[in-house]
Amino acid sequence: MSGIERIGGHLHVDGLPLASITETHGTPLYVYSRDILEQNWKTFDRAFGAVPHRVCYAVKANSNLAVLSVLAKLGSSFDIVSGGELKRVLAAGAPADRVVFSGVGKTIAEMEQALQAGILCFNIESTDEATRLGEVAERLGVVAPVSFRINPDVDAQTHPYISTGLKENKFGIAMEEATAAYKAAAAHAHLSVCGIDCHIGSQLTSVEPFEAAFARMIALVDELKNLGIELQHIDFGGGQGIRYSDEEPLDINQLANAAIKAVGDRPLEIWMEPGRAIVGPAGVLVTQVEYLKQNSEKAFAVVDGAMNDLIRPALYSAWQPIVPVIESKQPARVYDVVGPVCESADFLGKDRELSISQGDYLAVLASGAYAFVMSSNYNTRARAAEVMVSEGQARLVRKREIVDELFALESTV
Ligand code: LLP
Repeated sequence: MSGIERIGGHLHVDGLPLASITETHGTPLYVYSRDILEQNWKTFDRAFGAVPHRVCYAVKANSNLAVLSVLAKLGSSFDIVSGGELKRVLAAGAPADRVVFSGVGKTIAEMEQALQAGILCFNIESTDEATRLGEVAERLGVVAPVSFRINPDVDAQTHPYISTGLKENKFGIAMEEATAAYKAAAAHAHLSVCGIDCHIGSQLTSVEPFEAAFARMIALVDELKNLGIELQHIDFGGGQGIRYSDEEPLDINQLANAAIKAVGDRPLEIWMEPGRAIVGPAGVLVTQVEYLKQNSEKAFAVVDGAMNDLIRPALYSAWQPIVPVIESKQPARVYDVVGPVCESADFLGKDRELSISQGDYLAVLASGAYAFVMSSNYNTRARAAEVMVSEGQARLVRKREIVDELFALESTV
């Protein structure tokens, strides 16, 4: 049995009862399904069929070594945004030549690290960055493979904080500046121009903004070819949306077909950088009800998971499903599900109809992406443990932090 589903009123992850996993490991707890993770990666891979392609999992979505190693075994490539993520990918057993390095602020040290490791491609976001990379590569006596991240100026129709492809955003370089940037890079002895990339935003649920970006990117590819600059790949980024409430998740086959159609018979390998769509649906956050309280306005379920464990509701007003791990027959009430942190923004969900009692476990679904990775130690809260269900076993893949460790790097004066 695979997936996250309810059997006889009890939530199960890949056939194991979530309540017993939680009894063993405590709360708050992240639990991931290896099966869902693998299926989602394969959906991207298969959608391109025999068309030359590369699925570069966006490590930032969930960088646990277990997640990375599962995907590495499937043959995934990886999109990273820091030297730290590069170290993780290598530690998880993936070769450096499957790594693409994105991000607006690469430091000299990170460039050195990535060049020495021998990564596949640098996604460059500014002309200053290209200049710096050229200098670092020259000093090391190597040639850096580069792609430019183009800002196609399309409206991704998503939350402004996760929209990245508009002129007002800090990401990428403008279409108008692209040819000059490519010409300069092509003339540099220590840069090797290999591709072009974009990423227009996250949690996109319709194919239209992608199609608009594909068309603009392809027009640029043709323009560059006319200038004598031939690219080997086109990287259409991530951003594929999933279902949190009633959204229709993006159809990956439809998206891949649109990409394949846009590329046509040009000899370009197609790359994508999905994060959320691969790992989001594969995870749940389990939390326990500490208190049920009521004032004249509202009823609250105070749980032991908080904004430091899952910041998406506080940061983006994101809505994620919250369900009891074990269904109960008692009458339902409408609660705000809140954590113990000293902020009014500390909620996991508002106005949720739930049949619960003190001590019950609640599961926040679709918590595989941008969840644990964005957690913090605010209020000196130790971060949650992470478990992956793999081959019928619940494996602890990150130990719960211990409070003493949280201040071990500090000292008194
Ligand atoms: N490639 C680049 C260059 C990116 O910046 C991102 C995400 C991705 C790929 C992967 O995007 P995805 O397929 O996961 O949408 N913390 C926010 C999402 C931030 C996304 C940042 N960039 C959230 O919780 O919704």
